[in-house]
Amino acid sequence: MEYVRVSTHLKGLNQNTSFFRDHAPFECLKALVIPKLIKARKQEKTIRVWSAGCSIGHEPYSVAMVINNFNLPGWYISILATDIDPRMTSATHTGIYNDIEEVPDNFKRYFHRINGTWQIDKDLRKIINTSVFDLNGQWPGMPKMDIILVRHVLCHLPDKNVDTIIKKIAQTLRHDGYLFIGQGLPLAKESIKRWFYPYNKDGFRPVMTGKHCCYVLN
Ligand SMILES: C[S@@+](CC[C@H](N)C(=O)[O-])C[C@H]1O[C@@H](n2cnc3c(N)ncnc32)[C@H](O)[C@@H]1O
Repeated sequence: MEYVRVSTHLKGLNQNTSFFRDHAPFECLKALVIPKLIKARKQEKTIRVWSAGCSIGHEPYSVAMVINNFNLPGWYISILATDIDPRMTSATHTGIYNDIEEVPDNFKRYFHRINGTWQIDKDLRKIINTSVFDLNGQWPGMPKMDIILVRHVLCHLPDKNVDTIIKKIAQTLRHDGYLFIGQGLPLAKESIKRWFYPYNKDGFRPVMTGKHCCYVLN
């Protein structure tokens, strides 16, 4: 049996995840967010994404597959994948998975079989930068992001921390960038209502596509 020493502050964290989790956010990326960003960034040809609380990488790689499918030669695509737990960022960096059943068939080509497991293609691994980062801690300087995903993370944190994190997220997102959080979070977390429309008319506004909404600031 192998024993892994885990710092006390990492014990009991919920690290559930899956490829294309909840489906609808990825439909929203495909149908609305990426096409809009391709237009808006046609001069600089750069899209920066941050998956905060990335677990073992299913979320950032799902985004990477969607963007890669747009075939954007000459563009700089960068996905920052961070987690409080170094075991998660290390697994994300390796990009090896036992099971890719939830991956839609047309995206399975991004995986290669190695020793009974599946490794994500190296071209997608190259655009993912991993880093250990506690959302409750000091935020390092980072470039402004076009897309931020903080899904199924904030619901596990105390209200007062979530309030501070949303404020910092608003400062880190470009003025026309997109925020993905767990659906219903602004209503479920009383303390953060003030960052969202209609409680704040200058706050994050929902953008609906089909069943899902993401949020924009302008
Ligand atoms: C339930 S998983 C969600 C993974 C992915 N975002 C998704 O939606 O499938 C939550 C992740 O957030 C990480 N996490 C929890 N608290 C955190 C914090 N304070 N800062 C950064 N990451 C945190 C956990 O280690 C875990 O990997």
